[in-house]
Amino acid sequence: MSMIAAFYGGKSILITGATGFLGKVLMEKLFRTSPDLKVIYILMRPKAGQTLQQRVFQILNSKLFEKVKEVCPNVHEKIRAIYADLNHSDFAISKEDMQELLSCTNIVFHCAATVRFDDPLRWLDDSIIDEITPKLIGDRPNTYTYTKALGEMVVQQESGNLNIAIIRPSIVGATWQEPFPGWVDNLNGPSGLIIAAGKGFLRAIKATPMAVADVIPVDTVVNLTLAVGWYTAVHRPKSTLVYHCTSGNFNPCNWGKMGIQVLATFEKIPFERAFRRPYADFTSNNFMTQYWNAVSHRAPAIIYDFYLRLTGRKPRMTKLMNRLLKTLSLLEYFINRSWEWSTYNTEMLMSELSPEDQRVFNFDVRQLNWLEYIENYVLGIKKYLLKEDMAGIPEAKQHLKRLRNIHYLFNTALLLIAWRLLIARSQMARNVWFFIVSFCYKLLSYFRASSTLKV
Ligand SMILES: NC(=O)c1ccc[n+]([C@@H]2O[C@H](COP(=O)([O-])OP(=O)(O)OC[C@H]3O[C@@H](n4cnc5c(N)ncnc54)[C@H](OP(=O)(O)O)[C@@H]3O)[C@@H](O)[C@H]2O)c1
Repeated sequence: MSMIAAFYGGKSILITGATGFLGKVLMEKLFRTSPDLKVIYILMRPKAGQTLQQRVFQILNSKLFEKVKEVCPNVHEKIRAIYADLNHSDFAISKEDMQELLSCTNIVFHCAATVRFDDPLRWLDDSIIDEITPKLIGDRPNTYTYTKALGEMVVQQESGNLNIAIIRPSIVGATWQEPFPGWVDNLNGPSGLIIAAGKGFLRAIKATPMAVADVIPVDTVVNLTLAVGWYTAVHRPKSTLVYHCTSGNFNPCNWGKMGIQVLATFEKIPFERAFRRPYADFTSNNFMTQYWNAVSHRAPAIIYDFYLRLTGRKPRMTKLMNRLLKTLSLLEYFINRSWEWSTYNTEMLMSELSPEDQRVFNFDVRQLNWLEYIENYVLGIKKYLLKEDMAGIPEAKQHLKRLRNIHYLFNTALLLIAWRLLIARSQMARNVWFFIVSFCYKLLSYFRASSTLKV
């Protein structure tokens, strides 16, 4: 019997960010392993024209929750959606709801955040904020890391006699094992880059190939989170423990290897309607980055937009490309360095778990096979994020072949034009051309003569 699963049984649990990538997987695992939990309160806001109930309905009816419905058929009754906007100082929660939360909640998982790296800080007037932001964030690369640090500080200062713990995941990717491999529904992190590469928009990245790509599967983060919740409540450590949920220390994979594997997977599982053939070069050189951005990113986007205009359609590729290049520039700080994290607390927790809990709440990434994981990741993106049909793979492969032929044709035409211009202007080029042609002719004549002799 899993001690962790039993611990969550009968509990009232509050989750913020339950509509997000991590929050959904956390909720799924809780319901699947502890179907006898009392209630999960989720703090949420209406979004994109959907009410709270509609959002909950959509989550519960998604592929991710299929297994939950088998073990916990009354899952709908165990979720209580509470209106909240965490941007407000009192979270905009009604008095009655707040009363219920305060008197009933046993455990809180705070997962809500804005995960945009460059969101503006929001305390004062915009002009003041713009001016003081660089001074406030200091050496930190962006407002995201700055506000994360602030959040941790506030939690520690205000925790009073509550038992708290902090979990710091690295770059969260698709599921490794649970509820099934490769699930992802979010463009953040590597998923967006994989799509951009698979669709042929992204051709080169400023990244150090040997730097560790510290990607961690979302189900690993969730398993560690639930184990931490149990350990913190049952063992009550005297100080706030910080758990780094990373892969680099245990089972490193670098960006170069990851890139090669992603490209190899596109050969087997291509995305539909690619703009160009998938290709991704890693360069850590500034000049080369500028060159690739101009030649391989901006120029094709401008040409394509010109074509869209000619055919009476709205141009969109340049805008999309600018967004992609901005995202890449925000990631540069992280993908050009190898990071080292202390995993002391994570390893300590691993050793505290019973064999059954180590199996049910597995967060030991030493067992992860990167090649297999990346293949499932790409497949998951295709199925769950892009919602592409697997039956379309032969047509997608055909499309890539057509793109390859266009690429060869274009390059040959470009070479011929360049050569034609060169021999029109330079005597030296003409001499070289004459030499090559006569050499080929002689070679051909020699082979013809020798084959005639043999006969
Ligand atoms: N994903 C990663 O690679 C990664 C890596 C390290 C750490 N983390 C941390 O892990 C946590 C979860 O990340 P994630 O990837 O799951 O992010 P996510 O998919 O963007 O989800 C963010 C969640 O926060 C909610 N939220 C944001 N602002 C809110 C507000 N003002 N009021 C109410 N809810 C609000 C969102 O609600 P809506 O659906 O209503 O927008 C959503 O449920 C975050 O703390 C993040 O910083 C993530």
